[in-house]
Amino acid sequence: MSALGEAMLPRILEPETLDHLAPDDPVAQRSRRDLRRVNAFMGARRILARALARAVAGDPAGPLRILELGCGDGRLMLEVARHRGRRWPGARLDLLDRQPIVDDATLAAYATAGWQARPIVADVMDWAGVEAGERWDVVVANLFLHHFDGTSLRRLLGACARRADALAACEPRRSRFALAASHLIFFLGANAVTRNDGVLSVRAGFVDRELASVWPAEAAWHLDEYDDGLFTHCFVAVRPPRPS
Ligand SMILES: C[S@@+](CC[C@H](N)C(=O)[O-])C[C@H]1O[C@@H](n2cnc3c(N)ncnc32)[C@H](O)[C@@H]1O
Repeated sequence: MSALGEAMLPRILEPETLDHLAPDDPVAQRSRRDLRRVNAFMGARRILARALARAVAGDPAGPLRILELGCGDGRLMLEVARHRGRRWPGARLDLLDRQPIVDDATLAAYATAGWQARPIVADVMDWAGVEAGERWDVVVANLFLHHFDGTSLRRLLGACARRADALAACEPRRSRFALAASHLIFFLGANAVTRNDGVLSVRAGFVDRELASVWPAEAAWHLDEYDDGLFTHCFVAVRPPRPS
């Protein structure tokens, strides 16, 4: 029970419609535009930038290497780069999504903001299956981890712990308030796909220490799981500095 005596909502995972529409389907394109409005309404850019700043506390030795999982059209991190990019000059950003939807104009806009962005079209579970190889200073994700069940999440977070020094994830908060609000996103002009996926996202979201509880147990990382804003649940994991 929560402090207000509310019973916790059960986590329910159902396939989201947008994930199964072709990238060039006009309905999908409209839904991705809706998502930008939903992100703006939720304050996602500031929330993600704050989580990133917690994950990367010190000054990296060289340009920060960032990997975004489930980046969508890449426009949310572009907003972070535009507003907070000077803090991490010359950052190298890899934008991974199953769908090829990061366009050239977005990549050029990153360059203008002083970051170097590269799209990677891949299923994240294939990425998670790679044992070693390329590494990143930090992995970020927004509205992404809630797509996965416990087993896949364990694999995914395990891969983040192997291949990066930090993770910053911002996900839907599975609260009654957020669920009620998710039924009202037609006020933002959202189409039927976005309205449906919004409700499913909250039902599949997270509360309390649910993400920390699937972080690889053997890793003695610094884990921080907290609410930010009205609708967002964040998880930040930072590898402790190696003894010198
Ligand atoms: C709700 S959208 C969020 C997009 C973006 N992070 C944002 O906040 O605007 C989720 C994204 O995850 C991608 N996705 C879903 N399952 C995936 C998978 N297994 N591998 C890679 N990307 C996936 C979808 O294509 C979609 O772009």
